[in-house]
Amino acid sequence: MNIALITGANRGLGFEIAQSLGRRGMHIILGVRDADKGRAALDTLGEQNITAECVSIDVSNSASIHAAAKTVAEQHQHLDVLVNNAGLLNDFGVTASALPLADLRASFETNFFGAFETTQAFLPLIRKSQAGRIVNMTSDLGSLTAMGDPEHMQYDAFAAGYQASKCALNVLTRQFAKELGDTAIKVNSASPGLCRTDMGGENAPLSVEEGAATAIWLATLDADGPTGCFFSSTLEGGEHPW
Ligand SMILES: NC(=O)c1ccc[n+]([C@@H]2O[C@H](COP(=O)([O-])OP(=O)(O)OC[C@H]3O[C@@H](n4cnc5c(N)ncnc54)[C@H](OP(=O)(O)O)[C@@H]3O)[C@@H](O)[C@H]2O)c1
Repeated sequence: MNIALITGANRGLGFEIAQSLGRRGMHIILGVRDADKGRAALDTLGEQNITAECVSIDVSNSASIHAAAKTVAEQHQHLDVLVNNAGLLNDFGVTASALPLADLRASFETNFFGAFETTQAFLPLIRKSQAGRIVNMTSDLGSLTAMGDPEHMQYDAFAAGYQASKCALNVLTRQFAKELGDTAIKVNSASPGLCRTDMGGENAPLSVEEGAATAIWLATLDADGPTGCFFSSTLEGGEHPW
């Protein structure tokens, strides 16, 4: 049975991705930082006969990441899917000149360093998979092309910390994909588009199901699927300019 770990999986897109991969027959490991929220999410999966468990992981905390990797490695022989989904948006609408350095650092701790360290920590177990898949949840807001294109819907956005951290996350996609190019492991970035979650707000154009679709597709790619690519949300479709 394929095993998938999704960080930030107790709500929003992470939960939707977990639920959908579970419905496809994968064993789900919900990465959560709050045990009560994890239990509630686990109950919902259990009602659908999805086999699942929780692991405690705060991706802004190295000790937590390595403890989670140890726990999972003690219980499982391989990890087939890692979705680096946990994310923080704390500066939407804030101009770069007004952005507190602490907020910029917080964005990077979760969105970039967190995904980096989680990938490193779980890679030995992913290497034991027949066909490992790593999906980095990025954003259209992390696209340098979009930032420079007045025609792009995100051109006017100000969120320098979040945008820089997602742009840097895309570098990890390229670099891990290149390093792992001669293995069966595929590494891609998925942008969900603006979705109706706590982060995206209730007026966002996409449902969680629509937003999760790209990540689910990348988590279940065939052997001839792409690696080292940046795919946009279902709203726009196709590859996204970096
Ligand atoms: N929604 C959108 O429109 C949109 C657009 C583009 C990209 N994205 C990306 O998609 C991903 C999911 O977004 P979402 O809308 O589902 O966000 P959300 O509703 O705000 O949920 C965020 C999830 O991440 C977890 N999390 C935050 N910081 C964490 C940390 N340090 N360690 C572990 N877990 C942490 C949260 O856990 P708690 O419940 O414990 O707080 C929660 O489960 C994020 O990477 C986001 O940047 C979202």
